[in-house]
Order: sequence, then structure tokens, then C-alpha cells
Amino acid sequence: MTPPGRIVQLATDILEHTTGIQTYLDAHGIPSPSFEPGTLPKLPLPPALEDTLGQALSALDELNALLLGPLGWLKTQIDHAYDLVSLHAMYRFDVPSKIPLGADIPIGELARKCNGDNNLVERLLQHAVSNYLLIQPRPGYVAHSSTSTLLAQEPAFKDWVGTACEDMWPAGTKVIDALTKWPGAPALPHQTGHNLVENTAVPFFQTLEGDPDRARRFANTMWLMQKMPGFEPSAALDAFDWAALGESTVVDIGGSTGDFARELTKKNPKLHIVVQDLPNVIEKARSNFTRDSSSNITLKAHDFFTPQPVQGADVYFFRMILHDWPEESCTQILRQLIPSLKPGARVLVNDICMPPVGTLPRYQERQIRCQDIAMMAMFNSQERSSAQWARLIERADPRFHLQSVVQLPSSPLGLLQVIWMP
Ligand SMILES: C[S@@+](CC[C@H](N)C(=O)[O-])C[C@H]1O[C@@H](n2cnc3c(N)ncnc32)[C@H](O)[C@@H]1O
Repeated sequence: MTPPGRIVQLATDILEHTTGIQTYLDAHGIPSPSFEPGTLPKLPLPPALEDTLGQALSALDELNALLLGPLGWLKTQIDHAYDLVSLHAMYRFDVPSKIPLGADIPIGELARKCNGDNNLVERLLQHAVSNYLLIQPRPGYVAHSSTSTLLAQEPAFKDWVGTACEDMWPAGTKVIDALTKWPGAPALPHQTGHNLVENTAVPFFQTLEGDPDRARRFANTMWLMQKMPGFEPSAALDAFDWAALGESTVVDIGGSTGDFARELTKKNPKLHIVVQDLPNVIEKARSNFTRDSSSNITLKAHDFFTPQPVQGADVYFFRMILHDWPEESCTQILRQLIPSLKPGARVLVNDICMPPVGTLPRYQERQIRCQDIAMMAMFNSQERSSAQWARLIERADPRFHLQSVVQLPSSPLGLLQVIWMP
């Protein structure tokens, strides 16, 4: 018998995998995925079925591209540029908060509430409906979808969309112009798509320091990232024996509003943690720290391009920091530690470790490549493989001894343990 063609094989795989997932959902009384409000942000599956889900999505991705053919696939890529326009409208006009929960609303009335040109806003909302961001229960009306409910109910999701649409996406439109204007090495953090599109000569984080609202929005986005699958603090907490440090000092450099530090002290109450970040971020962190917050966390404004003020700490921790900076800047950041380091001090780098090309399913490889392009657009930096991390650390100073690299389970993040051996 002739084997089935690729598209039938893929469809068969999808059927098999989705049947496995549905059986689990039914057995555990979990509702089937839907676009209705109240749907969980992510299917609650055990690790084995996460794998099945990955295989289903991978097959679906390939099937979609094959069925569209090169013409349809190319058109899809080009259309993606406009998908963010309606999402941006949802953000800018705060559409989710203007839709009543549990009822629909005439699309014209919603457009009027947005104070925009009715016809234009209606068309943007109609595009959002086509992209599952809103539901159209009857002609001329819209209602909340699962996604818009999330945006209405959790302010950090709204901030994430704002950061994506107003900080990152505009920078992406100028990446190639930046690359043409400033070709070759060394990559500098103020020669990026962000610099061209905002007509500024300072790196992105300095732009944020001059704009507290944007800094707050970015900090909330970072808070949300900690909740994303694979980026939760728990993985980094398990990958290193923090308890063995006993009563030690850990400096969380660029620790944002202290979310990781809070998780770290919850599990290891003997640790004293100093969270350092830029002044606006530390100010926000202070307002987040309520009386239930741990007293063994100290918040301190500190620019990591200046000498490290905490002398002789046991651990200097960088979580998702160095991937924001090109090599030269990473070298400067690491060297600022040196005068404060005692022999045997640890520098822990918890950051994305790019897997070897071709080892991930195509759709997951695309996600991590998008992340890499975002680094290019905003910072002139990149996501690095563990070999690239090892070279970077060694070049910063040969007395930094890379002791181990642990890939965190079900996560793009790794944990690099570096010992200072003068
Ligand atoms: C990608 S976020 C990571 C935040 C946090 N470590 C986490 O895992 O969520 C990068 C952080 O670096 C901080 N940052 C950027 N430039 C800095 C500088 N020069 N000195 C100190 N912190 C800085 C930012 O404010 C931001 O909080």
C-alpha cells in the first residue's frame, strides 16, 4: 500500500495527539479549550502531555505551511505585520476594559467609547475579531474572548502588550536600517532599531529611566515574564543549592522589582539578598514591598556599569541581564564586580542558552529566534549558546572560572556557575 502523503501523516499525528489531550481533560473534568471568557490562560497538562502538546503544535505548524503553499505562506508572513495594529488599538484605546463582562456591546458604541474615528476603530475591532482577540456573538456586536478577558482582568498582560506594541515592535521596523547604518563590530547598545525609531542616542534602559510610566510598564512586563512557562523562578531555585549557602549575601543585579528575590527568601530565609536596579525600578520595587515582604531583602539603586558597592558577597546573580547587552557591555558589567569579589565568590548567570540549531521543533525554534531578533532590535545584543556564554565569561577575565552549566528542565534558560579564582 502507498504510504500516506506528508499532509495526511501530519493530520493523523495531530488527531492522535489531540485525542490524548482531550482524554486527559475529560478524565480530570477540565473544560475543552475554547475562545470563551474564563478559559484558563494555559492548558493544565502534566509533563508527558506537554510533550504531546508540543508534537501536536509542531505538526500543525508544518501542516499549515504545507497547505498554504509558498504563496499563502509568504502572504501570511506579510499579514503578520498588520496583526499587531489591531492589538495596538486594543491597548491604546483600552478596549478590554470598555467591554462589559458577560454581555455584548454594539461595535459602534464601543468605537465611540474609544474616542476615535468610529469607522476606523470599528475596522480595527473587526480585525481583532478575526484574530480571536474578541468574539462576535451576533452581527454588529462584540463581546469578550478568553484573550480580551485576560487583558481586562490582569493589568500586567496589558502592560506586556504595551511594551510589545510601543517599545519593541517599532524598534523591529528599523533593525535593518540600523544594521545598514552601523555595520560591523563592535555592536554598541545605542546603535539599534530602538535608537533610529525613537531618534535617541541612549540605550533603551536609559530611555526608560527618563520616562517613569514606560519604566513601570516594562517592570510589570518583567514581572509577568516570571510567570511564563519555563521562566518561573522555581527552575532556577532548584538548579542550585541555595540552602547550602547558609547565612550568606546574594546580590541580585538588575533584580527588577524583587520578584525573584522574594521567591528565593521564601525558600531560603537565612539568605540576605540585595536587589539592585536603576532608580525608577527600585522606587517601584519599594512601593510593591508591603509589610508581608521579607525583611532580609534590601533594595538599592545601582547602575551596573559602575563599581559594585556590595563587597565580599557570596553570590552575584544575573537573571536575564547579560542577554540584554552586546559583548563589550557584558565585559564591562562583569569587570565592575572584580574589585568587590572575594576568592571563591560565585557569579551565577541565569539566562537563555540557545539550543543547537535544528534540535527544537521548527515552531519553537522560530519563537526563540524571534526572541533573538528582539534582542537585536532593542539592545544590539543576542541570545547566546552555552559555548558563547563560556567564551564571553572567559574573555571578561580569565580569573572567572566557569564551573558548570545546567540547562533548566522544560525551559530555554540555563544556569551558569562561575567561580572567582584570582
Ligand atoms: C530583562 S530585565 C530582567 C529583570 C530580572 N532580573 C528578571 O529576571 O525579571 C533587565 C533588568 O536590568 C535592569 N537594568 C538595565 N540597565 C541597568 C543598569 N545600568 N544598572 C542596573 N540595572 C539595569 C532593568 O531595569 C531591568 O530590570
